[in-house]
Amino acid sequence: MSAAEQHSHTITIEVPASAKYSNGRRSPLAKPGWQYVEEAELADFSAEEWTFLNAQSVEYSTEERANAALRMLGTLKDDPSFGYQVNTYTHCLQSATMVMRAGWDEEDIVTALFHDMGLIVCPEAHGQFSAALMGPLVSEKNYWMLRHHQIFMNSHSDNDPSFTGDKDAREVYRGHPHFEYTATFVDKFDQNALQADYDTASIEVFLPMVYRVFARKPHAVPVID
Ligand SMILES: [Fe+2]
Ligand SMILES: [Fe+2]
Repeated sequence: MSAAEQHSHTITIEVPASAKYSNGRRSPLAKPGWQYVEEAELADFSAEEWTFLNAQSVEYSTEERANAALRMLGTLKDDPSFGYQVNTYTHCLQSATMVMRAGWDEEDIVTALFHDMGLIVCPEAHGQFSAALMGPLVSEKNYWMLRHHQIFMNSHSDNDPSFTGDKDAREVYRGHPHFEYTATFVDKFDQNALQADYDTASIEVFLPMVYRVFARKPHAVPVID
């Protein structure tokens, strides 16, 4: 039996609704009254088409950004674990729950909720994955934390005999304005958010916060190291 056959019974691929309209059919417009551009190449769009397209795009993005992020997070919901007591989805919700119960602000809670969303699909750069997602919507503090939290996790891996990285790698950032914030997040709300018996809040608790943060006007993301 091939590897594909072995796993085929466990994989469910949902066909996105938009795919049902492919093969010669246009995807439905999101709103009544919206228009299609008639050409299929950017260079051929008229100024008038660019004008309505840009307006529709901004409205679409503003309203759908949160939904798209929540759908992506939701795909992890029923994932098995590779050994942690809880999967990545529960880890994210548990981290956000801990931040909320510590009384940190809404932006910090939503940042925690999405901080490991790319952990399975791109583990090596999952901090940058979440930083790219959240950076335009949050403060530099949380953007920096997302980008660097992987390095800060190293200092909690003392007992891992296979660890070949630098456990003190975070020290190069000691004194940075966001060092203590990141160290505290990782120490109190990340490296310990792996508990099966923790009373983790459900996603519904976070939805109003997610929609508020994702409805913010996106800003340019600073170039940082
Ligand atoms: Fe992480
Ligand atoms: Fe994490």
